Amino acid sequence: MIILAGTVALEDMGVKILGFSLGREDVFEPDEGPDWGPEEEMLTSRRVEAGELERPYAATEMGLIYVNPEGPGGNPDPLGSAQEIRVAFARMGMNDEETVALIAGGHSFGKCHGAGPPDYLGPDPSSSPIEQQGLGWRYNYGSGKGPDTYTSGFEVVWSPTPTKFGIHYLRLLLEYEWELTKSPAGKYQWVAKDAPEIVPDPFDPNKRRKPTMLTTDLALKYDPVYSKIARKFLENPEEFERAFARAWFKLTHRDMGPKVCYVGPYVPKETFVWQDPLPDRDFDLIEEEDVEHLKKVVLRKGLSIRQLVYTAWSSASTYRDSDRRGGANGARIRLYPMNQWEVNHPEDLKRIISVYEGVQREFNDEQERRGSKKRISIADLIVLGGCAAIEEAARRAGLDVKVPFTPGRVDANQDQVEVEFYKAIEPFADGFRNYFKYPERIREDDVYTTPEYFLVDKAQLLTVTVPEMVVLIGGLRVLGATYRYEDLGVLTENPEALTNDFFVNLLDMKYEWRPADSYRYVFNGFDRRSGELKWRASRVDLIIGHHDELRAVAEVYACDDAKEKFVKDFIAAWNKVMNLDRFDIRMKR
Ligand code: HEM
Repeated sequence: MIILAGTVALEDMGVKILGFSLGREDVFEPDEGPDWGPEEEMLTSRRVEAGELERPYAATEMGLIYVNPEGPGGNPDPLGSAQEIRVAFARMGMNDEETVALIAGGHSFGKCHGAGPPDYLGPDPSSSPIEQQGLGWRYNYGSGKGPDTYTSGFEVVWSPTPTKFGIHYLRLLLEYEWELTKSPAGKYQWVAKDAPEIVPDPFDPNKRRKPTMLTTDLALKYDPVYSKIARKFLENPEEFERAFARAWFKLTHRDMGPKVCYVGPYVPKETFVWQDPLPDRDFDLIEEEDVEHLKKVVLRKGLSIRQLVYTAWSSASTYRDSDRRGGANGARIRLYPMNQWEVNHPEDLKRIISVYEGVQREFNDEQERRGSKKRISIADLIVLGGCAAIEEAARRAGLDVKVPFTPGRVDANQDQVEVEFYKAIEPFADGFRNYFKYPERIREDDVYTTPEYFLVDKAQLLTVTVPEMVVLIGGLRVLGATYRYEDLGVLTENPEALTNDFFVNLLDMKYEWRPADSYRYVFNGFDRRSGELKWRASRVDLIIGHHDELRAVAEVYACDDAKEKFVKDFIAAWNKVMNLDRFDIRMKR
């Protein structure tokens, strides 16, 4: 309803809307999942380090959705503001052109509200007296509404026609010089110098105002790249309108996942690259006997268990539930830029993919010769290789198990990758693969600098529960599927066998852990009796023994009689992650 109402309002104000999909769900309890970064005090930022917004955050300041409208940290600096906007919008998947279209289009309408001093503003709705029934913030200045409204504290109307879509915002922005001033609430904003009073007062038909802007609006005038786009739009109003309609559709649909998740009669026919599009499957699915055959073939190709598992995990764990993007389907991991992500082992990945391509060729050619329409995709082979390796690793641990596999993935091509977006979200931390790029930034009194913090974020994006997270880490470590295949966290004498050794050795009091570097990222485990150095582990590994909730799970898996349960639970969690993006199957159901 919220998105539909906004879209209908835009249509009413003259925008040629591209379409609309139903299908969003309501949550009925607080969603504490999204990681906004450090949030302690309103309108402060602990996310900006040396002028750069820390990764992976998008909003710069607590309580603001994009960036501070006054400028960075409240400093009215349009160029600095442009830098903030560029980073924030890129992490939301918007390029420069989309950003200019959105801001210039969005601020064709409406106004900012800051009629008077902020001291008259009451407490937030949930801290207000109960008789107010949660109906917003009370502003005790004048009537508190209409001309006396306070929301953001700015008092800006951007356009002389604020109920119509159009080019006025851009015209005024680029035509006038702007003078720094303050709103009645004391916030920095800008007024057009030497401009006539052309903006109608929203409440008094006899009054007019000078055009006004926010520092973030001026960013579009003073940043050289933004201003070039703004000028192009001003000279080509139809192009501007089209760009805004497209960017609006993207803004309001980009977290719905691939197009198969769209519902209703207004879904546009066009497919967009930000939907992580996939080609239609034009072949038959492989069957059980093919699966078994292909597993054997893959295992004979000379790739190690750790390589097969690491690659499958790397592919599937690109999924993020926050916008339902990524995942194993499409095998985008073999395409730019994910094939260059440091955590994906670019060189090794290239070799592994070429092995898979060989297997694919052999299998598909054979099917063709037989007149069969069955084919296997690289996306499926990557996952299947992981499944085969896990079965083999379980065999080495004395267990005969089957890892579920659901075929039907297809391979995307390079045109179907939104390159800028995937460049912007390259991971710098992944506790599942024991990867952390910034050990030198760790400060133990600031959890937001630690890899264990980003592990929880990653687990959240993969929708895995606490026990699933712990069992996955324990399994991936003994399988040797760690960054650069290092021994970090591989707490077993017998790597590539699916044993519960990680938990047994982590919890064994025989070993004493001591920091191995000044950052306290890597730790050494010594045999208390002999003093012999036995293991290396990261903070992510040790947190499992340290944190009481995680330790409780680890204790279950460390038990002597839990070997089978460990393997079963690991496989169940693995299978969940491999299929997180299988909307093709879920939506059909
Ligand atoms: C750098 C990014 C942006 C900043 C800093 C920003 C800031 C603001 C602020 C401070 C207000 C005033 C709120 C109030 O006082 O009630 C506002 C209003 C508004 N913004 Fe933005 N905005 C941004 C981007 C956008 C985008 C992308 C859109 C839509 C595509 C948009 C559409 C609007 C509209 C329609 C209003 C008027 C609301 C009303 O009349 O009550 N803005 N914006």
